[in-house]
Formats: sequence, structure tokens, C-alpha cells
Amino acid sequence: MTIPQSAAERIMARIATLAAISEEPDRLTRRCLTPALEMAMVTVAGWMQTAGLTVRRDTVGNLIGRYTAAHAPARTLLLGSHLDTVRDAGAFDGPLGVLLALAAVEDLSARGMRLPFALEVLAFSDEEGLRFGTAYLGSKAFAGGFDPATLDLRDTDGISLADAIRATGGDPAALAGARRAADDLIGYCEWHIEQGPVLEARDFPVGVVTAIAGQSRIAVRFTGQAGHAGTVPMAARHDALAAAAEFVLAVEARAGQTAGLVATVGRLLVEPGAPNVIPGHVLLSLDVRHADDVLRVAACADLAAIAQAIGQRRHILVGWAVLQETPAVACAVGLTALLAQAIAAGGTPVQSLPSGAGHDAVVLSTLTPVAMGFVRCRAGLSHHPDEWVAPADVAVALAALQRFLVLLAAAEETGSTETQRRGDAG
Ligand code: GLV
Ligand code: MN
Ligand code: MN
Repeated sequence: MTIPQSAAERIMARIATLAAISEEPDRLTRRCLTPALEMAMVTVAGWMQTAGLTVRRDTVGNLIGRYTAAHAPARTLLLGSHLDTVRDAGAFDGPLGVLLALAAVEDLSARGMRLPFALEVLAFSDEEGLRFGTAYLGSKAFAGGFDPATLDLRDTDGISLADAIRATGGDPAALAGARRAADDLIGYCEWHIEQGPVLEARDFPVGVVTAIAGQSRIAVRFTGQAGHAGTVPMAARHDALAAAAEFVLAVEARAGQTAGLVATVGRLLVEPGAPNVIPGHVLLSLDVRHADDVLRVAACADLAAIAQAIGQRRHILVGWAVLQETPAVACAVGLTALLAQAIAAGGTPVQSLPSGAGHDAVVLSTLTPVAMGFVRCRAGLSHHPDEWVAPADVAVALAALQRFLVLLAAAEETGSTETQRRGDAG
């Protein structure tokens, strides 16, 4: 193995390189199927090729780098994360997982080593869902869960997903063929910045994920009546923004009633959007999450009823469109135990924790068993430009990933991964 310290410094440098590739000059924003994301993908593809991986792209822009096994036929382990970002993002959310995976393969390649299984490093093109409001478009295309109805979704410039795919040279009709066959897969292992405060508070550089919270994303539309801000008396108004504002506070209050429930209104589009015009339309994004799907679904039903009640009282039409419904996912027992063993072997106590954030592993779990490792995050800050991971912690994660591959190779050679996989699948 290389000394993870120097490999970790290279990961940090690459993360900085990718952080400079943005749609916006002064902040990091890389939505799916944009020239900025394409540039990031091409950059990583170049690093993959130099490391000896065979590179391909699929129709939604996912990047897949394959490093073959010592002997054929062989099974395949998937590694990776995503390269798209939120608006005004941090540098580590997504790229850290892709570049840790690449560094592990790069090290094997530099030493001329092949494992008894092939490795595929995946860089997904849409995990955040910033552009079309629904997350995981990249991993859904890869795992076969892509809903063709999403092709009609439009971004804030009115560009449909189908047209965005065409604009980058992809073919929406080829989406069904983007699905990765599952028969040769061992599983998927994703590393990610924790995005929360737990590891830092307990002084652990890395941790193992037990489960990932379920998530609903809903587009709520309030339609009232635009009018003159100077002439329409207050009692005669149907102000869509006033209704939406009432709803935003109701969302906060409802989330506070259930332990562990989080609910967020992150975007309001106000039309026509002029200081002297009463708002006629508001389009609002609602994100609701809980580790227990029953509690999340119940909260969404309550919020739908609350929105309707606000609309009725104010004579405002309310539209409710569910864009995404992702159940909570438990990480696979066998692979997760191996990851924990790999961490412990480095002398780090194993801290297990659930994830409140969503990850590509959620969707990959419909294809193959999944395991996730978290890397400590400074001040619990993420989806924020100050997001930060220390190079020393990146080195710990890389060493753990390398040991995980060694352990998995040993298990694969004795046939025990197949037994584990059956256990995980069952
Ligand atoms: C992804 O970062 C999400 O959890 O929304
Ligand atoms: Mn994110
Ligand atoms: Mn992420």
C-alpha cells in the first residue's frame, strides 16, 4: 500500500481542482447535465485513464471507470459517489467518495496488483436533485429505477430533463439501457463526508453508516391573484406569498412535533416578483425526512392537509406534486461488518451512526448490497462553502478502504462473500 498521507494530499488537491469548476464565478454550483459538471467529469475521467481504468459514460452523464480483476470471469465491486453539487456548495460532498475510490484503485494499479474481483469507480451525475427538483437521477439510471415521467420535469429556465440529456449528446430513449446488470455484483461501497457533528463530537476520524433516512420531496404551488400593491385593499387580496409564508411556519411547527423528523422549505419562486405587485403564484420546495417511513409519510399527509386548509381560508388554490419518495435504507450487514473490521484494524474504534442525508447508496441498494463509510466533518457543516475534511482523516479513510479491499479479496477467494451477499440480499 502507498503511504495514505501522500495519497490523501493528492485527494485534497484534486478536491480543490474540482471545487474550482463551477457554473457560477464566485461560488460552487454544479447542476446535472451542465457544462461545469461535464468539465468535472472529463477531469476525473482523465485521472482514471492515467490510473489504468477503462472509462465509459452513460446517457445521463454518469462516469464509470473499470479496473479489471486478476482473472476472468470475476465479479465486480462498485465504489464511488457523485460529482454534482448543491448551490453554493462545499467541496467535499460527493467528490470525496469518488476520489477516495480512485486513489485506492490508483494504488493497486501503481503496484501492478489486481484483485480477485473487478472494481468500478462511479461518479454519478445527479445526487442532489438541484436542477430538476428530484434527486438521484444518475444512480436511478444506473440502477434501473429511472421513471420516464421525470424526463418532462423542467428546470428554472424551462429546459426539460429530456432536452438537457440531448444537449449533452445523450439519448433519453436509451435510458432503459443504462441499467447496470446486477448478476456479477458483489456490492457498492460509498465513502462520504459525514455532513453532521457526531464524529467530531465523539472524536472519531471515520465511522460506519447503519442506515439512511427516507426522504420525500414535494413541489407545492400556491395560486392566488396578482394585483396592484397600492390599490387592492388588504381584505380583498389573495396573496399567494402570504399563504406560502403561513405554510413555511406550519412546516417548521409540524416537524417539531415528531422526534427525529426534519422538514425544510429551501426554495420559493415568487411570481411575478415585483415590489409593487401582489404575489399571484408561489412555487415552494418541501423536503421531509425521517428514519421511520411511517412517521415521514404521516407528516407529509398532515402537511398536505395543512396546505389545503390555508388555501381554503385564503381563497388560494393549492397544488401538491410529489417529486420523490425514497424509503429509508438499511446498509447491508455483511459488507458493513467488513468495513467496520477494516476500520478497527487501523486502530480506530468503530463508531456506527445513521445518515440523515441522502446518498447514491440509497438507490444502489435496489441493485446490490451497500455499505457506507463517513469521514469526520468540521463543525458538522455541509451544503455550505465552509465544509471541510482534514487531510489526516482522508488518510484514515483511504487506509480503511484499502484494508476493506484486502479483506474482501480474502473473502472472495474463500467464497464467503457469496455467502454474505446472499445473507445481505435476504
Ligand atoms: C443530499 O445531500 C441530500 O441529503 O439532500
Ligand atoms: Mn449533498
Ligand atoms: Mn452527497
